[in-house]
Amino acid sequence: MAANWKMYKTAEQATLFFDAFNPLVDGVNDCEIVIFPASIAIPAAVNAVTRTAIRIGGQNIFWQKEGAYTGEISGEMLYAAGATWVLVGHSERRQYFHETDADVLKKSQSALAAGLTPIICVGERLEDHKAGKTDEVLVRQFAGGIAGLTEEQFANVAIAYEPVWAIGTGQTATPEIASEAHKLIRSETGKRFGRTAAEQLRILYGGSVKPEKCEGLMKEPEIDGVLVGAASLDPEAFAKIVKAA
Ligand code: PGA
Repeated sequence: MAANWKMYKTAEQATLFFDAFNPLVDGVNDCEIVIFPASIAIPAAVNAVTRTAIRIGGQNIFWQKEGAYTGEISGEMLYAAGATWVLVGHSERRQYFHETDADVLKKSQSALAAGLTPIICVGERLEDHKAGKTDEVLVRQFAGGIAGLTEEQFANVAIAYEPVWAIGTGQTATPEIASEAHKLIRSETGKRFGRTAAEQLRILYGGSVKPEKCEGLMKEPEIDGVLVGAASLDPEAFAKIVKAA
């Protein structure tokens, strides 16, 4: 159950979130909880979750270890700050920062090399969805951004299906739509990495997940978790989502 805070919450606001959130999920032990704060709030978040099972991740990564890359952060830096996960290829990164599938592959490889677990995000835009091109887009994103991993690397990634038309729009995909897309991703996984990898792969759904929608989504056997934006900024709302796992 993952929370993508995007460009919200200062370090101080992150700490306040955990003051309220940690007691609400105390005793939850049937799922993993990962929060992705802005990178500048990662140390505060890591500090706030010591002695809990909650894990912290970065929202982005650059594939070089270090160097003259103004404004970028490496996997090693994230890991040294206490992050253990990282989002790769979120649609906002693809849309506003022109990340390509080739970038997604390089970022995932460098995340794994640094000891981070990437959640690789895929999903079709509204025009593709309307044109019935969802499968085509997912197959292309899988081929360009994921299939180039080795089997060993692939065993340590999770994938998030995030239809762009559902993100931040209130238009949550129905459990059936999400499930169909997850099935396709699992089938692509089976073809490239084998049946066991496909069975073990965790696929999260993301896009306007709200507490009241979560139970229906989590009932689908194909949906292994959720990646939550707006609703994860509120400790009570995200705790409710976590409890629907
Ligand atoms: P949302 O964002 O829940 O606000 O739609 C999801 C995401 O972008 O990961």
